[in-house]
Amino acid sequence: MSVLRGVVPALALAAVLLTSCSQPEDPDQPTAAAPAVSTTATAAAPATTAATATTATASAVTSTATATTPSGSVPASVASEPAHPTPTRIPAPPTPSPAPDHGSPASLQVLVNKRNPLHPTAWAPADLTAPDVRATRAGLTLRAEAAAAAEDLFAAAAAEGVDLTLVSAYRSYSYQQGTYAGWVQQHGRAGADRISARPGHSEHQTGLAMDVGAVSGACTLQACFGNTPEGAWVALHAAEHGWIVRYPAGAEDITGYSPEPWHLRYVGTEAAADVVRSGGVLETAWGLAPAPDYGP
Ligand code: DAL
Ligand code: ZN
Repeated sequence: MSVLRGVVPALALAAVLLTSCSQPEDPDQPTAAAPAVSTTATAAAPATTAATATTATASAVTSTATATTPSGSVPASVASEPAHPTPTRIPAPPTPSPAPDHGSPASLQVLVNKRNPLHPTAWAPADLTAPDVRATRAGLTLRAEAAAAAEDLFAAAAAEGVDLTLVSAYRSYSYQQGTYAGWVQQHGRAGADRISARPGHSEHQTGLAMDVGAVSGACTLQACFGNTPEGAWVALHAAEHGWIVRYPAGAEDITGYSPEPWHLRYVGTEAAADVVRSGGVLETAWGLAPAPDYGP
């Protein structure tokens, strides 16, 4: 009851305020008090936005007047008063999030596979840096953001007693030429194509991919790495640090490569979580075509 006693006078006060024409402060109002509408509109169309807002307000006024005079006769007391527009909410248009850029080599969301080489094919990142992590050899580099994320990943693993080492990271176009040629010598072209990217088609050239191994050296660059404590830890936790296992088991017809539980691709934590949620395959998560081979 005491609550009701407070509410009734408050309602009376609100009615007085409304009839005295004061505009309630409402950030969604299509007036100067509502920058949300104009700031979310494109710069090219401010006039249209303003016109739309005005029209919407005008129609609100009309419909209010009609509602109060259903018979069509307007009472003199109402007709002589200036219209008191009912505050009209015009929903702000949804702010479209920019489409992810899967085509630019410098994009953190770039997709590189057998059907999507880097453009230009000899592209090189401008922000390569050596991550402060244990490595099997000196001089391994990644793009700055990926390098920081690699440090996070290695530190998180170490904190749980899992000791990782960096085996491979950025590889230039010419370095990949040598790598791929070596595999062709060993396995022939078809065999090489299942385990190594042709130059211009390797994620390593983006500076966003790395191969990791166990400090013990167990199963380095072998499928059995996935069964080591290090491989299992990476499969479970890489996404928390923005990395995905890029060539998972069972996805060769989409990724084009045999499983590589050691090859991690940096996409950022949000995108990595999306990939995990959607089943673990990048092409599928991004709604892009499978790339089982280099095409016709
Ligand atoms: N091993 C991966 C597919 C590469 O060569 O980039
Ligand atoms: Zn790799």
